[in-house]
Order: sequence, then structure tokens, then C-alpha cells
Amino acid sequence: MLEGKKIVLGITGSIAAYKSCLIIRQLIKKGAEVQVVITPAGKEFITPITLSALTHKPVISEFFSQRDGTWHSHVDLGLWADAMLIAPATASSIGKMAHGIADNMLITTYLSMKAPVFIAPAMDLDMYAHSSTQENLKTLQSYGNQIIEPGTGFLASKLEGKGRMEEPENIVKVLECFFARQESSSKLAGKKVLITAGPTYEKIDPVRFIGNYSSGKMGFALAEECAARGAQVELVCGPVSASMQTLHPNIHRIDVESAQEMYEACMGLFPSMKSAILCAAVADFTPITVASEKIKRTGEDMVIRLKPNPDIAASLGKVKQEGQLLVGFALETNDEESNAQAKLKKKNFDFIVLNSLKDQGAGFRTDTNKITIIAADGKTDYPLKPKSEVARDIVDRMEAMMPDGMAV
Ligand code: CTP
Repeated sequence: MLEGKKIVLGITGSIAAYKSCLIIRQLIKKGAEVQVVITPAGKEFITPITLSALTHKPVISEFFSQRDGTWHSHVDLGLWADAMLIAPATASSIGKMAHGIADNMLITTYLSMKAPVFIAPAMDLDMYAHSSTQENLKTLQSYGNQIIEPGTGFLASKLEGKGRMEEPENIVKVLECFFARQESSSKLAGKKVLITAGPTYEKIDPVRFIGNYSSGKMGFALAEECAARGAQVELVCGPVSASMQTLHPNIHRIDVESAQEMYEACMGLFPSMKSAILCAAVADFTPITVASEKIKRTGEDMVIRLKPNPDIAASLGKVKQEGQLLVGFALETNDEESNAQAKLKKKNFDFIVLNSLKDQGAGFRTDTNKITIIAADGKTDYPLKPKSEVARDIVDRMEAMMPDGMAV
């Protein structure tokens, strides 16, 4: 996948710069051509001689070559590359990239880049957590750049390690996956996919709600996977943590709070979709009345009467047209398979993804999941995997069910 690919590797002034050598070695081993562009601060951490020995190319760091005064064209580099990777990327360089402060060769190359850009931040946790850095990273994402860090993207999510540069082999894996997807012609390319994710909150009074433990991680992983295969994703998302961010520019996120709001958004979108994956943990009931003031303690027992919410999946199942695919989830605690089978039929799903709360590492708030896919023609069990890989299995299955050359 990396054979013959031209990669511009930007190196900035971080202690993690030594890891760039490992990145270069792996990229070269896999057949890529690497051109290093380094900032003046980067050279304090690693010598251009080491880098040029590894890449078999002179390292670029100044606008003019010191040897013969020839001009290094950042515009040419922008056209030459199949991808640009900036690893390590310091807070300072990230800030300059976000704001177009082109005071060195690396930033000018970044601004002229015509190929996709991947950025692996490296700094200490406090710098990384600062709102300024976070805002700059969001800005870069909004430019379509992919941030590679422990805990995001399609890699196994780790809780600690924020700010630390992702390991070289994982960085290279991200590039490999990117080129693999670019080369494979997915049936999802150009198709519209609706995905629901996260919990719903059902208001009791102005400060309280009924909710559930869903984090939205599985739905977000599915959205990234479909978008990476070229789909246009409508992600209808209940209240999830602020750290849940989408990366791919093909994902359009619609935030809702209650099951009723999610129902309305989905019913409006579904007729123009090719498929829908219903991953949200929708509350089945909602309070009949919402108190307009905060409910006070009285010392007595408290009863809240609930009414059923609309079943989004069943409603979409009813209006599903020939050629549309509907995928559901079932999170069960007992009689898993027979419950899932019943939901498959009742909601008119093409297949249902079953995860059991009995399986360790599966279900809510984890970074991994263990699923069984159940369709009319039988079931497939999968081992415990990171949610990003589970998303790949689910989307593979969806593609396998799509007829060739289905119109958008
Ligand atoms: N679902 C939905 N709208 C609802 C409830 C569920 O779209 N109001 C979807 C979920 O997103 C999931 C599937 O239906 O894809 C099954 O959800 P689940 O909560 O397991 O099913 P329920 O019908 O609520 O059944 P249960 O009685 O087990 O809660």
C-alpha cells in the first residue's frame, strides 16, 4: 500500500523527533519515498545527516539550499506528495499551521500542500490540554487534516498518553489504512449513510433527566469507517462527552437530546439515505410531563409516570424501500440470540449486531466490543476487538449486502 508513495515528513522541535527515524525506516521498508522537511528547532533534536542517510535525500529546512543557493520550492513539494505527515508536531507548529504563520519552510510546505495531511502531536499533557492547543487542533481538523494521537482515529483507544506522540508503527498504520482505502473502490463511495449514536436524555425537570451509559464510541467509529470509504455520513448523535469529536470531513453531525428529537431527525433524513445504522441507545420511555421548576424534596415517595417513546428503528423499518439497508444493534443481558432474532424481524433490519453485557470488554463505555452479526441467513461470531475494528467488520458486512453499482 505504501509502495511508491511519496511522503513529505515534517519534523518539528520535540524530544520525540528521534522517533521520526523509526517512522522513516518503516516507510522506506514498505517502499515509500520520504522527503524530510525540518524546522530550525527540529534540527536541535536530530541531525539532518541522520535523516538524509535514512531517506537517501537531502533534508530541506531552509528556503534556499545552503550549498548552492537554489530555491526550495514548497509549491513543488505540495504537488509532489501523496501525503504529508508532521510527526512530531509541537504546540507551536500546530498553532502556526492553524493560523497560517509561514515563518519556516515546514509551515510554507504545509500551506502549499495539495495532498492529505496527517499530524501527530507531541507535547506534555498540560500543553496538550490547554484550550489554545485544543482549539488549534480543532481548527486543523476543520481544514480536513487528520490528527493522529493515542486514543483517536481508527486505532485502539488508550485512556492515558494524551499529548505523547503516537507510536511510529501506529502512525505508519494510519497511512497504510488511508492508502488502502483510497485504492479500494468501496460500494459506499458517494453513498449516503445515516448513523445514530450515543444515549438520549429524557427530561424530568430543568436539571434532571433519565439517561443511560452509552458513550457513543461505537457509533462514532462506524461514522469514521463509512466516511473513510467515501460515504457521506449523517451522524445523529445524542448527548455525548465533549471529547467525542468526528475527524472526517464527510461526517455531518446533528446533535439531539431526546428520543423524540432523534426520531424527527432520522425520519426526515432516511428517505434520501442508502442505508442506516442504528447504534444509539434510545430511551424507551419518557416522563409524561416535564416539571417546569426543579422538583423539591417532600419526604414522600416520588412517582414519575412514563410514556413510551417512538421506536426509531421500527419506524424506519416500516418506510424502508427496496435497495435501502437497515442495520440495528441489540445490547442484551439474557437470552441474547433469541431476543436479537426477534428484533431483527420486528424492526425489519437487514442484519442486527448483537453485543452481550455478559461479555467482558463489550458494550457501553468500553473501547472494545465483541459482537455477533445475525441476519436472516445465519449468524457470525467475532472476537473481542477495538471498536474501530468492529466498525470495519460491520461496514464490510453492510457492503457485502449491497448490490454492485447501486445508485446514490
Ligand atoms: N431503537 C430505536 N428506537 C428506540 C429503541 C431502540 O431506534 N426507541 C433501536 C436501537 O438503536 C437498536 C435497536 O433499536 O438498533 C434495538 O434496541 P434495543 O434497545 O435493544 O431494543 P428495544 O426495542 O428497546 O427492546 P428492549 O425491550 O430490549 O429494550
